[in-house]
Amino acid sequence: MFHNERQHFLKKNKTMEITSAEFVISNTDVKKCPAGNFPEYAFIGRSNVGKSSLINMLTGRKALAMTSSTPGKTMLINHFFINQNWYIVDLPGYGYAQRGQKGLAQIKRIIEDYILNREQMTNLFLLIDSRLSPQLIDIEFMEWLGENDIPFSIVFTKTDKLKGGQLGNKIKGYLAKLQEQWEELPPYFITSADNRLGRKEILDYIEHINREIK
Ligand code: GTP
Ligand code: MG
Repeated sequence: MFHNERQHFLKKNKTMEITSAEFVISNTDVKKCPAGNFPEYAFIGRSNVGKSSLINMLTGRKALAMTSSTPGKTMLINHFFINQNWYIVDLPGYGYAQRGQKGLAQIKRIIEDYILNREQMTNLFLLIDSRLSPQLIDIEFMEWLGENDIPFSIVFTKTDKLKGGQLGNKIKGYLAKLQEQWEELPPYFITSADNRLGRKEILDYIEHINREIK
């Protein structure tokens, strides 16, 4: 798959600077997403996994995306224009049972509609809580991405909550589980919104893809 071919590139010393990060629009309809042909990087994962926090960490803006300790905070497709040149998209979390059947179905529709129909969507970052063992809902979501040829990478979040040895084991275990299903592993990133681990790696990755598709 082409996203796996993209992960090999030279390490650079300097991280891309985020000179501007502006909220543009929130909506539930992919047709109302911003016009123009800028590449988009969307962040997805279960409710409360840390999508909005990661976006704030990456952009270096404390409250660009709204975060909350209560799951289900982000309900809409949120576009943030970065350096006047590419977008970050904060998506609603999936699998938050307290939304009820109707709410869950609605969120599912919003997410699937965006992912399948938004041509500018260049890479999906799928966030996984590094503390948990592989969850069926995430594994099935990845299968769905694979079936639909959606390029994605994995972002392990909240690693500050694990000790070094524990973290290594969790990641190893997760990748082993993926290897049962995938011929080749997607690129993955080890992050913390608290101590900014993984910021450079993700921004380098985005910058690399941006250059490649120019
Ligand atoms: P929804 O919008 O509800 O889908 O959630 P989300 O995935 O956007 O999660 P959000 O960024 O709002 O974070 C959820 C909670 O986890 C908040 O209390 C954050 O402070 C906390 N959190 C997020 N990332 C980290 C992290 O890297 N480390 C720690 N310790 N806490 C984190
Ligand atoms: Mg959120």
